[in-house]
Amino acid sequence: MEILGVDIGGSGIKGALVDIETGELKTERIRVPTPVPSTPNAIAQAVKELVESFKYTGPIGCGFPALVINGVIKTAANIDASWVNVMAEELFSAYTGMPVYLLNDADAAGIGEMTFGAGKGRMDTVFLITIGTGLGTAIFTEGKLLPNTELGHLKMYGKSAEKYCSDAIRKAKDLSWKQWASRFNEYLAYIEFLFSPDLIILGGGASKKFDLYAEYLKANAQIVPAQLRNQAGIIGAAYRAWVKHNEKSIG
Ligand code: BGC
Repeated sequence: MEILGVDIGGSGIKGALVDIETGELKTERIRVPTPVPSTPNAIAQAVKELVESFKYTGPIGCGFPALVINGVIKTAANIDASWVNVMAEELFSAYTGMPVYLLNDADAAGIGEMTFGAGKGRMDTVFLITIGTGLGTAIFTEGKLLPNTELGHLKMYGKSAEKYCSDAIRKAKDLSWKQWASRFNEYLAYIEFLFSPDLIILGGGASKKFDLYAEYLKANAQIVPAQLRNQAGIIGAAYRAWVKHNEKSIG
């Protein structure tokens, strides 16, 4: 069974068909830049074109870089401010003509990793952090997600943690991996103080470069890169769409 997964990010919108039994991508991943300004209609149009390029019909799973409550966007840290209170699930369904199942992008990546990747079978506390334009978080215990944790906005030095140690900040401030890791370690210490996770999975764009900074990371928990790398969000979104769609068809 193949389901289209889409991952909307602050800088790119990515999609691929996913085999939801194995978690494998069945097509090339297609990436288009996130439109600027990233308004609701501009992003919805980009998603529609992305979906059309797959010639796909069926349920679509979509990760979105904001707080998503029942398909409605509630925050806008790395996207246009006009997204707040938009019924995005309905908007994307209207543009694509398909049922769209929307969730927070880090939650999507977490579901991907817990189902097919580094968190598979883990019943203890797993914390996933996506490191990209922002910092996204997902927490699982006994395999269950606590959705919309938004802990990239924990305050550090008076601002959101993601303004201190995201990958975008590393690039903007031209930090070496060692310098960036030293900032990120402070964030990990904060997370460990609050949640004492057993496993920390690092996802997002920076997961591909794990080998460049792994030696500098410090935490009590085991730290691993996302096994599905930056594809975790697409895969998790597709898997969840399939689960939700079946619940709907049955119930
Ligand atoms: C948003 C989160 C998102 C994260 C990663 C943050 O700025 O508030 O919802 O998960 O960026 O995209």
